[in-house]
Amino acid sequence: MRKRIIAGNWKMYKTSIEAADFADKIKDRIKTSEHVEAVICPPAIYLGDLMQRFETSAVKVGAQTMHDTDEGAFTGEVSPAMLEDLGVQYVIIGHSERRQYFNETDETVNKKVHAAFQHHLVPMICVGETLEQRESMETVSVVSEQVEKAFADLSADLAKQAVIAYEPIWAIGTGKTATAEDANEVCGAIRHKIETIYSKDVADAVRIQYGGSVKPENIEELLSKEHIDGALVGGASLDPEAFIKLAEAGTHVE
Ligand code: 13P
Repeated sequence: MRKRIIAGNWKMYKTSIEAADFADKIKDRIKTSEHVEAVICPPAIYLGDLMQRFETSAVKVGAQTMHDTDEGAFTGEVSPAMLEDLGVQYVIIGHSERRQYFNETDETVNKKVHAAFQHHLVPMICVGETLEQRESMETVSVVSEQVEKAFADLSADLAKQAVIAYEPIWAIGTGKTATAEDANEVCGAIRHKIETIYSKDVADAVRIQYGGSVKPENIEELLSKEHIDGALVGGASLDPEAFIKLAEAGTHVE
């Protein structure tokens, strides 16, 4: 069985006190498990503090983005080497908001995926279609192409360790969730794409999250589906009690 991964993407929310308070509320209540891991991706400015607060906790820490080079004159950026140095384990790559507002492309996503692995960071690679693409039945071709480009020149050994987040853009922050059936169908198509690029072995190992208005009320149904191995959660991950419920759902859904 693939280990589930429930990740909270805080986006650009919380003050330092709110971030610390959240961490202190959940750190002893999320239990280590063979079957599920819980990750919090705070704004970069809080990564160091959360690494310390979660030091003895089962909760892992991820970044929301990073640059693709180790260092350089890139004002405002955070490098993969810096994340590795802090002990961060995950990094979200190519979130649709990064693609939409910060000019990230399939090519920069691919560079960042390679850079993440070079620094022992597990990338959570985001793919997803717009409403217009969904309505014109392009979902599978759009996400397949995003996957193909994100994984370009990546070895099978590394590909196996990657996490893919399927986040339909129209479902992000809108309260509209893809039905569990639709989400599973697209996640299945993504897995199939990985199989055609690599092998069944790699496709069976890759973990695929669903993201887009996930909350405690709908996560169980999503996780009950064959190809959905976790969730990337925005809004609902800001509330400690909701995040605990989301992580717990990962342990008890069959
Ligand atoms: P919401 O859960 O707020 O819809 O955000 C989803 C998302 O973008 C997670 O990365």
